[in-house]
Amino acid sequence: MTHPVDYAHRERSRFYDELWDFLRIPSVSAKSEHNGDTERAAEWVRAQLSQAGLRTETIATPGHPVVLGEWRDAGPEAPTVLIYGHYDVQPPEPLELWDSPPFEPAIRDGRIYARGSADDKGQLFLHIKALEAHLATRGRLPVNVVVLAEGEEEVGSPNLVPFVKAHRERLAAETVVISDSAMFAPGVPSLLFSLRGLAYFEIHAQGPRSDLHSGAYGGAIPNPANALSRVISTLHDETGRIAIEGFYDDIEPPSPETLEGIRSLPFDAEAYAAQVGTIPAGGESAYSPLERLWTRPSCDVNGMLSGYTGEGAKTVLPANAMAKVSFRLVPGQSPVRVKELLEEHLAKVAPAGVDLTLVELHGGRPWRAKLEGPLFEAASRALERSFGARPVLAGEGGTIPIVGEFEEILGANSLLLGFALPGANMHAPNEWFATDCFERGIDTLIHLYDELAQGGNSG
Ligand code: BES
Ligand code: MN
Ligand code: MN
Repeated sequence: MTHPVDYAHRERSRFYDELWDFLRIPSVSAKSEHNGDTERAAEWVRAQLSQAGLRTETIATPGHPVVLGEWRDAGPEAPTVLIYGHYDVQPPEPLELWDSPPFEPAIRDGRIYARGSADDKGQLFLHIKALEAHLATRGRLPVNVVVLAEGEEEVGSPNLVPFVKAHRERLAAETVVISDSAMFAPGVPSLLFSLRGLAYFEIHAQGPRSDLHSGAYGGAIPNPANALSRVISTLHDETGRIAIEGFYDDIEPPSPETLEGIRSLPFDAEAYAAQVGTIPAGGESAYSPLERLWTRPSCDVNGMLSGYTGEGAKTVLPANAMAKVSFRLVPGQSPVRVKELLEEHLAKVAPAGVDLTLVELHGGRPWRAKLEGPLFEAASRALERSFGARPVLAGEGGTIPIVGEFEEILGANSLLLGFALPGANMHAPNEWFATDCFERGIDTLIHLYDELAQGGNSG
């Protein structure tokens, strides 16, 4: 009988062709002009899962549809694994910074360049192909599987919590497996011990009724752009700590073993600086860069809008200003509480003559892994077989909003094993996914099922 890994190697060029079809669909969830494309991507995933041998269904939501694929013939005694991924992508702009068009995938230097190649279409595709390889060669899987692919992750998964609640029974699983993150370094696979959460706001500052002549009024009438800059500057102190009262109170610090693990990881500050183009001098100076990225919250201005930004000079005192400000949160913190604290803070620092309003955009809870159990062991062995190295435990600064909810609503543990590489340009121009990680990623996920079968079928 053909081994599933041999099957995957034999079918590799078709897998690439199929991935290309997937990556060509501009499923930008944030833009309604792409609603048809996003729908098409959902149907593409459904058809792939169906062709792999799963029972499939596309379920409408108030936003983009959820695609489910189910294979439940391992029997009621066998555990159930829920595989989660997203078929939507971030907007590709600015287009002029791409070396090849974002929705025309191209291979250069062992990298697949396309929007969504790493985040997350390429990684969702790995799971579909691993399932296909098993079902095509053996006709079965050692565990029951439910695949859930959503199309709204990049806009904060606004409809997924109600969906998971409404389909609680159907989605019931011991473990959730997600590939939507990165390896620690090339050749060094990682399993995540945490994700940060997110609380995202707009702060609006309103001053005079309309724009004014900055000579006729400037100096007497408060300027909302100046005022908002001052407000933003109160969010941190000079050591990089967030200066909102009570902000750090609820944090549940990582275990000593986790901190020890972080310290044992090689962090090459120079290589990091070279990759990013500047030094990691932000945030709390009392913590190392990896500690800051993975175990400490952060606060960043994501965008600002005010006044005249066109060519040349215009002496204007703008009537209003707006900043998009987001916080990354760590375990113990919640988006709801952070909003309350920020409201209290703004009330304290609001300048006279300028009205501040806070608008909540989206949020997501932080997540911390429970790092034991057969699935965790199976994943470590599977990664070792395909990458020739045991995984390291790593944190992640980004957010996958639904992960904390899976735990809360389904009582399931999550296993996050991602195959992107650092510097993959997720959300940026020239996003890429290494062909080596693509190929080994499929092998890993195939091995995962074998390892699970050997591990006595307990998840
Ligand atoms: N896949 C990312 C999360 C991620 C980023 C994991 C980098 C590992 C490395 C996910 O698609 C994402 O971008 N999440 C957003 C959430 C937001 C849109 C609610 C994020 O972190 O900004
Ligand atoms: Mn993602
Ligand atoms: Mn993303």
